[in-house]
Amino acid sequence: MNILIIGGGGREHALAWKIAQSPKVDRIYCAPGNAGTATVAENIDIGAEDIDRLLDFARVEDIGLTVVGPEAPLVAGIVDRFEEHGLRIFGPSALAAKLEGSKVFSKNLMQKYGIPTAEFRSFTDADHAIRYVEERGPVVVKADGLAAGKGVILCENAKEARAAVQKIMQDRAFGDAGGRVVIEEWMRGREVSLLALCDGKTALPLEGAEDHKAVYDGDTGPNTGGMGAYSPAPIFTDALREQVLNEIMLPTVRAMEQEGAPYKGILYAGLMITDAGPRVLEFNARMGDPETQPLMVRMRSDLVPLMEACIDGTLDGCEIGWDPGASVCVVMASGGYPDSYEKGKPITGIENAQAVEGVTVFHAGTKRQDGQVVTSGGRVLGVTALAPDVPSAIEKAYSAVEKIHWEGVHFRRDIGRRPQ
Ligand code: AMP
Ligand code: GLY
Repeated sequence: MNILIIGGGGREHALAWKIAQSPKVDRIYCAPGNAGTATVAENIDIGAEDIDRLLDFARVEDIGLTVVGPEAPLVAGIVDRFEEHGLRIFGPSALAAKLEGSKVFSKNLMQKYGIPTAEFRSFTDADHAIRYVEERGPVVVKADGLAAGKGVILCENAKEARAAVQKIMQDRAFGDAGGRVVIEEWMRGREVSLLALCDGKTALPLEGAEDHKAVYDGDTGPNTGGMGAYSPAPIFTDALREQVLNEIMLPTVRAMEQEGAPYKGILYAGLMITDAGPRVLEFNARMGDPETQPLMVRMRSDLVPLMEACIDGTLDGCEIGWDPGASVCVVMASGGYPDSYEKGKPITGIENAQAVEGVTVFHAGTKRQDGQVVTSGGRVLGVTALAPDVPSAIEKAYSAVEKIHWEGVHFRRDIGRRPQ
């Protein structure tokens, strides 16, 4: 079978690397891919959001399974379009992807079906929103649409909340996503995520993985797409996973079925473990980046039949085998990221890093230029190590990181070392 992977980040390199190990697979294409995906797949020069051209490509190249990495094409309806043409594609429909695409949609759904989340109100009028925050303590103000993970502002007091409403709704700092805001209670606790495969009826959770969103050590500095991740996450005890599955994942899948928008693909729940139990922060309609990188190196099962089971509604009874050890992914980023950064810096040492036993270097913002690999994005590489336990995976990952260099590179030195 020929496979098309859509996207060009570290997540997509990890997916391509994993799928390339499947005996069911003949050719793999990645659109648009990066210098890393080019080593396990054939890169196609089509953007992840160019649905018309992706569809043409899939029809001409006899693609048996398309795997969508990022959220934008999902929310734009790529799954619906491919299915209309009889093509098999892994991911939720546009309606189901609203779980990520619209915070108002997902909050209303959770409220309707009693799925635990922060108390909230939504507003289309900035004055009403400002009046509401005057009476509240610490709140979180969120733009309604996709804002590349950035449209969320944590506010300690009413003054900060007023400024946040103005920034999102009046200054349109996140564009059209600011037409509506959700304002919710600021929940305190430990943040974790659980990802599950879904087939419209049931959910099969993956192993736990924990992201590190802040740019600097000790979880300081502005939030990024994720500076590193590790798996398993010790906070995810079997009991907590069961609780999240039964109180959040399965009820959400059933709710979407009842709403006439069965959820197929990856459901990613961002959670806050509060004193009162797990609460949903947000849903994503896709795999996490960088969580996918440590998860893929630990997954022993063939991913392709699992994705097919999601499409066919036959996930019930499936199991996923995992390496009993641990994996750690350290993201190496361009100087200046998550603010502005320069591109085109030549990268050295990738091969030496790959030579460290148990290490895989996943590419994110890279491309090949004049015979060498250069930086082409903010998050550049995800150096990922598999080892018997977290401390040895950390050691291996960082010994590989030390071998890689480019001008301005920066990375966190404490991935996987969060106090438990
Ligand atoms: P979201 O995109 O909705 O997950 O928000 C991005 C980040 O903001 C989350 O990963 C949390 O760190 C934080 N956050 C969002 N909502 C809340 C909340 N209600 N309470 C506390 N932190 C939040
Ligand atoms: N690493 C966070 C995300 O993919 O949303």
